[in-house]
Amino acid sequence: MTAPLEAERNQALLDWYREHRRDLPWRRSSDPYRILVAEVMSQQTPVERVARAHEAFVAAFPTVEALAAASLKQVMAAWSGLGYNSRAERLHRAARIIAESGWPTDTESLRALPGVGPYTARAVAAFAFGERVAAVDTNMRRVLSRWHGEPLRGPALEAAAAKDVAEDASSWNQAVMDLGAIVCRPRNPSCHACPVETWCAGPGVYVPPRAQPRFEGSTRQVRGAIVRALVRREATLAELSAETGSAPSRVSAALDHLTAEGIVERDGDRYRVSGGP
Ligand code: ADE
Repeated sequence: MTAPLEAERNQALLDWYREHRRDLPWRRSSDPYRILVAEVMSQQTPVERVARAHEAFVAAFPTVEALAAASLKQVMAAWSGLGYNSRAERLHRAARIIAESGWPTDTESLRALPGVGPYTARAVAAFAFGERVAAVDTNMRRVLSRWHGEPLRGPALEAAAAKDVAEDASSWNQAVMDLGAIVCRPRNPSCHACPVETWCAGPGVYVPPRAQPRFEGSTRQVRGAIVRALVRREATLAELSAETGSAPSRVSAALDHLTAEGIVERDGDRYRVSGGP
């Protein structure tokens, strides 16, 4: 049972969501495959970029079986530009497990898939399978902290989310996400436009942690450039260094990680995307 305060707040939130929801491609279906792809892409990528990449990715691989049947190289090529390539490798492995054994349909069993952490498991369970769970991430943490009047984390955050989540968990989670993106922003929130201001302690109680490190010149950028080069053709360390414009020591360190993650394999002095053509 949701208590009266939560029920009123949720009603106002869900009414607002019906009118203001963002039109994101995977919201037009409850296909678990489309939702899983979207959630894995969203782990470290802004939602506007995910929206564009998602349409191209599901056009290339329309079903979980199609993704499972593709080579890692094809998957990496389709993932190019999203960064954090290890996500694509894990998604590919998850697709092979699902194609073989069928869809896990609750949070706990989804959690066993490669690359599916607590947030992604709950998001897929709520959006695709209607489980009443809250997909807690940094944005939800900010919104709920402000509602509850204290910086929530750990078990207190989990408890608040479990208490707040509405029966229609799919709409509720996405409503919190959109509220966090459109109204309850980390800085300069638009409280005057907020549908649940009446039931909120205000933004002052929660100061969000600092943003991610810059992408330019980062290890992540070098990794992305290497994978893009190897999707085109295999190459030596020296060629990769020349092609990416990064020092051999940096390319070498990135290659060590990509190899350990199973994304890249080495054949003599040449590197290529793992798993054949
Ligand atoms: N971020 C991650 N998943 C999302 C979703 N389903 N809607 C909006 N933002 C998201």
